[in-house]
Parts: sequence; C-alpha cells; structure tokens
Amino acid sequence: MDKIVMKGGTPLHGEVEVSGAKNAALPILASALLADGTTTFRNVPDLADVTTMLAVLRTMGCEAARLSGKKADTCEISITGTITPEAPYDLVKTMRASVLVLGPLVARFGRARVSMPGGCAIGARPIDQHLKGLKALGAEIHLTEGYVEARAKQLKGGMINFDVITVTGTENVMMAAVLAKGRTVMENCAREPEVEELARVLNKMGAKVEGAGSSVITIEGVESLNPVDHAILPDRIEAGTLLVAAAISGGNVLVKHARPEHLDAVIDKLREAGCTITAEGGGLRCKAPKTLKSVNITTTEHPGFPTDMQAQLMALMTVSHGTSVISENIFENRFMHVPELHRLGADITIQGHTAVVKGVKGLSGAPVMATDLRASASLILAGLRAEGQTEVSRVYHLDRGYERLERKLRGLGADIRRVKERA
Ligand code: EPU
Repeated sequence: MDKIVMKGGTPLHGEVEVSGAKNAALPILASALLADGTTTFRNVPDLADVTTMLAVLRTMGCEAARLSGKKADTCEISITGTITPEAPYDLVKTMRASVLVLGPLVARFGRARVSMPGGCAIGARPIDQHLKGLKALGAEIHLTEGYVEARAKQLKGGMINFDVITVTGTENVMMAAVLAKGRTVMENCAREPEVEELARVLNKMGAKVEGAGSSVITIEGVESLNPVDHAILPDRIEAGTLLVAAAISGGNVLVKHARPEHLDAVIDKLREAGCTITAEGGGLRCKAPKTLKSVNITTTEHPGFPTDMQAQLMALMTVSHGTSVISENIFENRFMHVPELHRLGADITIQGHTAVVKGVKGLSGAPVMATDLRASASLILAGLRAEGQTEVSRVYHLDRGYERLERKLRGLGADIRRVKERA
C-alpha cells in the first residue's frame, strides 16, 4: 500500500493540466456495449476505477484495453464474439459504478445479471431509481442471490419521473432507452455535465437524445448504434481540487483545461473566499488572497455546489478567517474527513448533516488516513498548508479518481512524494 508524504508551507505556482473526467469516462466506457465493432475513447484518465470498468467489460467477453506509449490516454473496446451479460460481485464490490452496464446490457442483449452494489463509505446509495427506470421501459427485474436480473425481449419507450435526482440512474436509463422501441421521456433527470457528455457520445453513435443537461430528457429509440471515436471532457472535480490547492497554499496557479461553465458554483465560493479567479488560456487561474474568508456551502445537485467538492472546500475553510457552515445534502455520511482534519488541528463540529468550521491560524502536519476518494483529496490539500510533515495513508482511495495528483502538485512546487508502505 502506498502513502503520500508531504511537507506543507510552499505556495504553489505554475501551470497544471486537468485529466479526462472519471465520472464521464465510466458511463461512456459502458456505452461501448451498445455497438458492434471497435469504439475508441481518448483523454481517458488512468485511474483505478477506469481499470475496473475495463475489467468488467472484459469479463463479459469484450476486448477492452488501454493503449500504450503516446496513446496511453486511449482505450479501445471491441465486441467481436459472444457477450455474457453479467457483472460479478468481485468487481462490482470494488466499484459501484459497474452497475452502469445494466442499462446497455438489457437494451442490447435482452438480459443482464449484475451484482447489487452494497452501501459504501459515504452512504447507503440504493439503485431503486435505476430499476424503476428500466421497469418503465418494460424490463422485468428480479433480485436474487445478491444480483439484479433484468430481462426484456425488446425494451419499449416509456415515461419516467425520477423520485430523486440521480446521476448514474439517469445515465443507466438513458443508455437503455436509446435502443428501446419508441419514445422515452425522462423527468427530474440529473443535469451534470457528465450526463450531457454521455448524451453527446450516444448521439455520435446514432442515438436520438434531446435535452441532456436539463431536467427533461427525450429519447427516440433507434434500431442500432455504431462505434465512435470520442475524446472525454476534462474533469471538473479535479480542476476544482487544483484551484483549491492554489488557494490553500497561498499560491497562483493556472489550471489548464478547467471549464468555467462546469465550475460556476465552485468559482463563486472561491471568489467569496477572496480568491481571484480568471479565465485564461483555455483554463482557469486561481490567485490566493492574503487572508482567506470563511464562506457557507450547501451541496446540491448540479448546477448547485457539488458534493464531490465539499471535502476540499472544507479543508480550505479550516484556515479561513471566520466561521463556515457546510451542509451536505446528497450523501448521509460524507464527513469522514472531519476526524482526520481534526488531527491536523482543524476546529470542526458536526451537527447532523451540517459541519461548522471555525478557521484556525494554522494546521500542523500529522499522520492521517484517507477514508474515501474526496476525503483523501481534502487531506492532501490540508497537508499543503500544514506546518511540518503530513502522511496520508490508504492512498488507494485517491488513485480511484485522481491521476498522479502528487506528481501534478510537485510540478507546482509542493514538497510531496509517494512512498511504498509494507502491507
Ligand atoms: N439515490 C437513491 N436511489 C437511486 C440512486 C440514488 O436514493 O436509485 C440517492 C443516493 O443515495 C444519493 C442521491 O440519490 O443520496 C444522489 O446519488 P446519485 O445516484 O446521483 O449518485 P451516483 O450516481 O451513485 C455520482 C458520482 C458520484 C457523485 C454523485 C453525486 C459517478 C460514477 N459517481 O454517483 O461521484 O458524488 O453522482 O454527484 O458518476 C466521486 O466521484 O467521488 C463520487 C462519489
């Protein structure tokens, strides 16, 4: 197991590039199941979760691999032979987004058997809305031996009004509806840029999806889809994390490829905290103020403030002037970074789904433990500011969603390295 060892106190300077978006790559890789032939995706981030999705596709009989050398950002997926439409527990338990194969499998092969993802560190995360959507398209669903079994000779267009807004639920049902017979109308959909990106890919394949990015998506089913070549959009959460790295370290950094239109809520909060954020050279520059100001944050679905940036903004608030109230409204257990931030000297009190962060003068380095992906990013951000040495263990959480973050931060002047820990 690796750990990250770092010494804080250096203001970050320079330029850094954002990689492709994890949460766009995962459904988009699954969408390759909808077409015969070879599908090519570029700008695919090299992350543990992407590796898992490729493994899920291979267990079903696809050829799915990352290319090497200069094309190492490219993944090719081919369906040439027979597909076994099954995602086993061993893989789904390591990554719940594996459930994204359910929609494409039942649409294309008439049958899917996918292990039920259990709860995870940040919440219970049921998939009832995915199943409700597939049922509305005529799929028969049974839950047996820990698996979801879905069957439909031919899915039929239907009306779906999601009870809760769900990102992967919207994506799963959208991937099923593109091959259903007739028209599907999905209401109360997630409006995240990753949903829009998936629709863009599906339309390139020949699907007829309209309205993605709004809360109502309309789909006219088509008979078949073609393989495509597509470059995945930049990761807005990685971009946001790097902007916070500049802010918390007292630095001045250009985050290349960061798309301002995907980061409105984050940019607003960073500006409120005193940072100067400017669009520059196809990216965003963050210049930290002399003194950071506390701001309140409430996570909501896009275009609101993203839950995936809550832990990182909390790290920033630990050293801001004043008191910040942070409310988490998407997941019920997404404050696991708080006890670890306490170890670095933060003053945070949790009341239900709200955290009250009183800014302190400084943090001091300590050994801490990552508990989930975004929590691990928040600890590294706090470590950039903390005096002395911080060691973040269980870095495999970080590797699920950040491509070589420590290398990118080192390129900006941070004193940070990865060391191998004995298991
Ligand atoms: N929910 C239900 N029923 C469902 C689906 C969701 O009750 O059938 C609830 C969840 O329990 C949660 C809320 O609805 O309380 C929103 O969950 P959502 O389904 O939107 O989350 P997700 O699709 O499982 C994606 C991202 C997450 C991100 C959330 C929210 C991917 C692969 N994952 O998860 O990313 O936090 O949307 O924006 O797209 C991360 O990258 O660190 C991460 C956790």
